Amino acid sequence: MGKIKYFSEDIDVQNKTLILRLDLNVPLNDKKIQDENRILASLPFLKDLIKKKAKIIIISHLGRPKGVKNSELSLSPVYKYLKEKLETSVYFFMGEINQETKNKFSYLKEGEIILLENIRFFKEETENDDNFAKELASLGDVYINDAFSCSHRKQASIHKITKYVKESYAGPLLKQEVESINSIIQNKKEPVTCIIGGSKISTKINVITNLIKNVNNIIIVGAMANNFLTFKGFKIGKSLIEKDSKETIKNIYTEAKKYNCNIFIPEDCSVSTNFENSGEIKQLNSIDKNEMILDIGPKTLKSIESIIDQSNTVLWNGPAGYFENRNFSSGTLAIAKKISERTAKKSLISILGGGDTISAINNSKDKFVFTHLSTAGGAFLEFLEGKDLPGLNVLK
Ligand code: 3PG
Repeated sequence: MGKIKYFSEDIDVQNKTLILRLDLNVPLNDKKIQDENRILASLPFLKDLIKKKAKIIIISHLGRPKGVKNSELSLSPVYKYLKEKLETSVYFFMGEINQETKNKFSYLKEGEIILLENIRFFKEETENDDNFAKELASLGDVYINDAFSCSHRKQASIHKITKYVKESYAGPLLKQEVESINSIIQNKKEPVTCIIGGSKISTKINVITNLIKNVNNIIIVGAMANNFLTFKGFKIGKSLIEKDSKETIKNIYTEAKKYNCNIFIPEDCSVSTNFENSGEIKQLNSIDKNEMILDIGPKTLKSIESIIDQSNTVLWNGPAGYFENRNFSSGTLAIAKKISERTAKKSLISILGGGDTISAINNSKDKFVFTHLSTAGGAFLEFLEGKDLPGLNVLK
């Protein structure tokens, strides 16, 4: 397998048109940016390219509009943010991508930027359409993918575009993610614990099955744990659950036994009858029909802290509860605190990934320390799984 071609300082980009794929997929509420971290992370490279007098065309997606224009998912708030943060002319292009687009961009001067509207407004993007990729590629001379978090997607602006552009590189953020995660995987010290939260077991099943072979403990939290609790025979009221997960979980336990991996699931929980209220701590056998599990309980937290204490490496993706309501963020934040304390003392290697996990941590007043914080969610998990990500493969 070849090596990823990274963009380097000595590549002359003056007066060249760069097509820069970024991940500016930030959470919005009422068209206001809720967490600007992904944009902030991209700014240093953008400033560097401006200084080098490149002409920059930025491509990003936002959410999953499924090929349909949707003003709620417009990149317009991101455009306004970039305009404010960058000392150059930034333009926003909302038109079609076709043979005339390139001519329309002839006004772009050295050090200036055009941000394209949400690329997923075009269904051809997610279809990895050949012609669409060709039109995108025709907009510039050099393509740079600096969106590690999208590199697990076989989509036109990540994958097929590289077939038609003369030069393709990976950007510095992507480089940092790949190198940090690789170094942690290679240098990981046992016992290794992986904490997997969030809601959908079907999207994380492969990673769990693969991790079983490589880690000592897997801690299941968040709504995903509900499926395990049901499997174990607990009545979990109206908690979020995924249909037909029984076989999947049975298989996880069989594999775990085979590879001597300990699977830990919650022992108590915090419940409520709705998402807005505060929680009540409950034992697993006393959840009422109209209640939902929205966080882990104190007994569970104590056990998780003890597993973390006995670990030398921790990988974490997915929050432990419904952190959007502060009343249910305490499990996630307490786990973060424990990992952070041990990382700060240099007695633990820690790596965190996933938009929700990072949002939960950023929402806290506390400052945490981790060995590496990945901006990626799905891509981080698939990379950990050892998959060859399509967006990285084409940069080799
Ligand atoms: C993410 O938020 O993980 C990335 O932006 C990728 O988004 P996607 O899962 O919609 O492809």
